[in-house]
Amino acid sequence: MANTYDFGLVGLGVMGRNFILNVADNGFTAFGNDLDEEKVNALIEEGGDAEKVNATTDAKVFVAALSKPRKIMLLVPAGKIVDVVIESLLPLLDEGDIIIDGGNSFFTDTDRREAYLKGKGINFFGAGVSGGAKGARKGPSIMPGGSREAYQHVKPIFEAVSAKYKGEPCVTYLGPKSAGNYVKMVHNGIEYGLMQLTSEIYDLLKKAGGLSNQELHQTYSKWNKGRLQSFLVEITSEILAQKDDLTDGDLVDAILDKAKQKGTGKWTSQNAMDLGIPVPTIDIAVSMREISALKEERIKADELYDRPSPTAVDKAGFITKAEEALYFAFIMAYAQGMHQLADASKEYGYDLDLGEIAKIWRAGCIIRAGLLADITEAFKADDTLSNLLLSSSFVEKVQGTVDATRELVAYGATNGIPLPGLSNSLTYFDAYTSQRLPLNMIQAQRDYFGSHTYERLDRGGIFHTEWED
Ligand code: 6PG
Repeated sequence: MANTYDFGLVGLGVMGRNFILNVADNGFTAFGNDLDEEKVNALIEEGGDAEKVNATTDAKVFVAALSKPRKIMLLVPAGKIVDVVIESLLPLLDEGDIIIDGGNSFFTDTDRREAYLKGKGINFFGAGVSGGAKGARKGPSIMPGGSREAYQHVKPIFEAVSAKYKGEPCVTYLGPKSAGNYVKMVHNGIEYGLMQLTSEIYDLLKKAGGLSNQELHQTYSKWNKGRLQSFLVEITSEILAQKDDLTDGDLVDAILDKAKQKGTGKWTSQNAMDLGIPVPTIDIAVSMREISALKEERIKADELYDRPSPTAVDKAGFITKAEEALYFAFIMAYAQGMHQLADASKEYGYDLDLGEIAKIWRAGCIIRAGLLADITEAFKADDTLSNLLLSSSFVEKVQGTVDATRELVAYGATNGIPLPGLSNSLTYFDAYTSQRLPLNMIQAQRDYFGSHTYERLDRGGIFHTEWED
């Protein structure tokens, strides 16, 4: 058994077990490791043939079973535990071995680990894995970053296990250091935005359009066959059709409206602020999860204030507009995320290829969508494109859907239905496409009270005015 298995995986939870079985399905031999004996036994049983998939609780047995250079993937919760696992493996490894962190680690942690392990002759990869448990089993989108040379050793395995879009694997080498974790973080930021948008439109159609869950299910299902085709629209449709086991009602109506989060959306927002790149659709999606968590306060506040009753709408026309607005806002969410990636690429030296990133998001991951084929083409056509809104191929798509978005945002504002994702997307568009913004006033105010100086439109140089004289 010594030195024969192609791939090692530490952490046999749901993701780990599914991923390792996927590796074995694709003709590679794989060995798992977990401290929990039950998980080890469950994998051995499910794997069937121990020569193809085996597992142990003993790290020494595990490391000794792997062929060199060892390729060891960690699918353990992000944070301290990653360091603990790395430290426990280190004395058992040889120079040139490869550790791949497949969790949602914060990118600066990945940079720190990569530098530390490089000093010990070990190659370290941060590889975002998207697609949930089903994706891990049947084909996820994988976003690896690290040493380009070392990637050649894991490439055949990752390409085999990843999702395929028209036969093309949804994985590619993304860049050095934490490029993989960074791209996955922004993927999750976009994921937050798209989830917020799909849930707002569901709310609007329910409250203003009066659609039943069944009608909403049909609407989302129809949209999923058109230009909004995406994993999140698809599962929204399925969720709306789900009956509740515990009552006679629909399950969605029984679920508490407090959304949790593990932090990747927040990190995207925080880092976008650090970079100075606006991602307001993502920012508001994070804020909405925070507002949702204030359920008890929301209940009290609801009793203090009146809210208008939604005015009647033409149902069919309203649904058409909702489809247009959702499409518009989806574009804004992707545009913001890609813009952040373009800037981070320069700031952190990732040298990202945005067309390749959009390409590996076309299948397997949570934000997979028909729209990503168009986004891929836009970035392939112009690899200097910083923002999707500057691509001529997107002008018509945006122009054709912005009016409906304006109408719905206005309707939401007048009728007291919060549409923060939609309105932030619209405001982003209006501001980004404005030659002149009122920020001249802010510069004047800054100079007025703090002598912070300003520049002028009509001539170069730095100016200051003694305003109070
Ligand atoms: C994926 C997801 C996944 C993430 C969950 C939960 O791409 O498969 O992004 O990695 O952990 O979506 O994230 P939150 O708990 O923050 O909503």
